[in-house]
Amino acid sequence: MCGIVGYIGREEAAPVLLDGLARLEYRGYDSAGLAVFSQQDGLKVVKAKGRLKVLADMVQGGRTIHGTVGLGHTRWATHGEPSDVNSHPQVSASGRIAVVHNGIIENYVEIKEFLQAKGIKFVSQTDTEVVAQLLEYYYEGDILDAVSKVLSRIQGAYAFGIICADCPDRLIAARKDSPLILGYGEGFHFLASDVTAVIKYTREVCYLEDGEIAVLTADKATVYDAYLQPIEKEKHHVDWEVSAAEKGGYEHFMAKEIMEEPKAFRDTISPRIHNGHVVLDNLNIDGAYLEQIDKIYIIACGSSYHVGVVAKYIMEKTLRRPVEVTLASEFRYCQPLVTQHTLAIVISQSGETIDTLAAMREARRLGARILSIVNVVGSSIARESDDVLYTWAGPEIAVATTKAYSTQLALIYLITLRFAELLGTIEQGEYDKIVAELLLIPTKMEQILNNKEAIQYFASIYFNHDSVFFIGRNIDYAIGLEGSLKLKEISYIHSEAYAAGELKHGTISLIEDGTLVVALASHTALFEKLMSNVVEVKSRGADVIGLTVESKGDEMKKTVDSAILVPDTHPMLVPSLDVIPLQLFAYYVALMRGCDIDKPRNLAKSVTVE
Ligand code: F6R
Repeated sequence: MCGIVGYIGREEAAPVLLDGLARLEYRGYDSAGLAVFSQQDGLKVVKAKGRLKVLADMVQGGRTIHGTVGLGHTRWATHGEPSDVNSHPQVSASGRIAVVHNGIIENYVEIKEFLQAKGIKFVSQTDTEVVAQLLEYYYEGDILDAVSKVLSRIQGAYAFGIICADCPDRLIAARKDSPLILGYGEGFHFLASDVTAVIKYTREVCYLEDGEIAVLTADKATVYDAYLQPIEKEKHHVDWEVSAAEKGGYEHFMAKEIMEEPKAFRDTISPRIHNGHVVLDNLNIDGAYLEQIDKIYIIACGSSYHVGVVAKYIMEKTLRRPVEVTLASEFRYCQPLVTQHTLAIVISQSGETIDTLAAMREARRLGARILSIVNVVGSSIARESDDVLYTWAGPEIAVATTKAYSTQLALIYLITLRFAELLGTIEQGEYDKIVAELLLIPTKMEQILNNKEAIQYFASIYFNHDSVFFIGRNIDYAIGLEGSLKLKEISYIHSEAYAAGELKHGTISLIEDGTLVVALASHTALFEKLMSNVVEVKSRGADVIGLTVESKGDEMKKTVDSAILVPDTHPMLVPSLDVIPLQLFAYYVALMRGCDIDKPRNLAKSVTVE
């Protein structure tokens, strides 16, 4: 989604803004722009469709555009095609007010017509230009007052950065339903979509809440509520290193992040296992509460939803309680059966996915208690939850999630174990066995990664296929969903995941000579059943890659064309090992097809529009 960065201080703003935008590139975008103010040149705006490099070249890395205050933006088109004119910053007709925006203004048509009736001409198709023009309309010498009037008139989601040439000693920030942070420094301040844009310059940040407005000068940051009353904001110290958001010698962030999975998994579980016992410090849920719940709802999107599908299998089996997993984008519109006895587990890497956030708010309105699993500290979902458990994966930059997915799974195991203990639905021996195996997962992940060339070899055999089917049963099916998504999103190969038993009910008609099928059979209890499905697709000409645990390897090799083996582990934990070869397979296939792996077409890292 769009990336925003604003700087006010004593340095030349343009190079700082370009650097911040480069760090936000991972969010996904199709055009970029800058607005910088100087006394000589006034408010200068430069915008370009395409990669940030096009913009950076236009301004020679920032050397041709001077001034110590400015805004930068990477746009992910919603209203109006990607083009120079639709890029942000959008400026008012007089050219004195510039706005960068992430989100969607829902009533922009009505406001546009109102302004057009007053004779105001529009040059772009964007909803953001409407905001710039409306600001100008309300502006009577006090930009904060104009901002406040505009905010009370518009509907929708927004994070804004605003600059006015009449008062270039300040930047204005405002948010509702789209993330925006402030960064504090000695003699400078930032506004930005997320911490990665500012971490090189400062580790002191605050997270704006919905309805808040901030006025930044070089030396001061004042935050106001919606009624323009100043409020105190808590500052947060960001403790991860700048290098965590850099490639560190890898060709792609995705490759780096896959290699980081053992560490991320270890960092997420180790501090939460004390002497063989799961301790979830931030979880204020006890046995009495769990005893009276009627249902666990798991709400998420994309890969986080796929973690939810694994969780449903694991939790229902272990807790003997109904668990429903639902896509956040559907939740609000399906009249969900939520009561005051419902626990909603909300899963999100970014903590800002708008559908997940909205579904979470709806679940709360209906009475549910919210437990969230989030990676980005201080994000909206984390802040609005009753309980939050952080995945300590560090920043994830590649659009396709890998280490965040793995750490979300890690927390699902820990929550399941803790709940099972509180509910008394697990034998001590079984509990101990799972905890012991859990601690071995990072080492087993390393074993798989040490042998990644084998996956690279399989990718070299199969990368030319145009259509792939992932089949599995039970949690193997859940992992297939993720393997399939990973492959399609970065390699653009058409790919689907099916519960293997469903093949005969339609899909098998698509299997023909040379169709690639990835058969997941690590859930050993269903190994034979899955292998029958493999025989069915093989006899119709499919090429089959099989994935199973080492102890079933010899048996599988008799039937499949290529076999990928992962170390044996407890059945509940198999997804954490299976997913790694599937992520590697998607990565190498995309590499061989020459795809833009870290920034796949049309995708954004943090989806902050519905
Ligand atoms: C796929 C991927 C997406 C996200 C989805 C939810 O690789 O990353 O499917 O999982 O957009 O995002 P979060 O977890 O940030 O809510």
